[in-house]
Amino acid sequence: MPSLPVRAISTIWAENAVFFGHWLRRPLAIGAVLPSGRAVARAMARELPARRSGVVLELGGGTGSLTQALLDAGCDAGELIVIERERALAQALRRRFPQLRIVEADARALGSVLADQKIQSLSGVVSSLPIKWFGLAAQRAIVDACLARLTPDAPFLQLTNALASPLPMRALGLDGVEVARVWAQLPPVQIWRYRRTVVGGGSR
Ligand SMILES: C[S@@+](CC[C@H](N)C(=O)[O-])C[C@H]1O[C@@H](n2cnc3c(N)ncnc32)[C@H](O)[C@@H]1O
Repeated sequence: MPSLPVRAISTIWAENAVFFGHWLRRPLAIGAVLPSGRAVARAMARELPARRSGVVLELGGGTGSLTQALLDAGCDAGELIVIERERALAQALRRRFPQLRIVEADARALGSVLADQKIQSLSGVVSSLPIKWFGLAAQRAIVDACLARLTPDAPFLQLTNALASPLPMRALGLDGVEVARVWAQLPPVQIWRYRRTVVGGGSR
C-alpha cells in the first residue's frame, strides 16, 4: 500500500498526463499545457465571497484542480456546477466528483445551458476558459449570461497568463481588476475580477 504522499504524487502525474494529452491534440481549445497547480486553485477559491447564496459556476473544469479547491474552500457539492466541453474530461470529472453536477457543454452557448439547468442566480463564476482566444461574440455570450445572473457583489473571476485583461473591457462594458498574481506556476497566472460597468461611473 503506497504512502499518502506517493499516492498524491501519482494522482497528480496521472492528472497531468490526461491534461497534457488533450493539450497535444487541441492546444488552443485546452489553453494550458498543464492543469492549474494547488497554489493557483487555492488563490482562485479565496476570491469567492465567504457568504454566498446561489450556485457557483465553474467554466472549463479540465481535470478538476480548481473544482477540488472550491470544494476544499467550503463550496457545498449542491451549490457547485461545472461546465466542460471535452467529453473525455467531462467523463473524468464525473468519475472524480460523482457528487457534483458536471455539464458537458460549450460555454459559448452558456445562456441556453444555464436555462436548461434552471439556473437563475449565481453567487460566483470561476472561469479558466481560454477566453482571451474566443471571438468577441463568444466572449459577450459568456459574460452576459453570467452577469445577468450574478447577485450584487458576486464576482466573475477569470484565470489568465496574459499579463493584461484577457477580456476587452470597453467592448464588453466591463470593469475589471487583477486581484491576484500567482508566481508559483509556470508561466505565472493572474486572476481578474469583472463587473458590469454602470453608466455614469462606478460599478455594481
Ligand atoms: C486552461 S484549461 C483549465 C482546466 C482547469 N480548470 C484548470 O485550471 O486546471 C481550460 C479548460 O476549458 C475547457 N474549455 C475550453 N473551451 C471551452 C468551451 N467553449 N466550453 C467549455 N469548456 C471549454 C477546456 O477543455 C479545458 O478543460
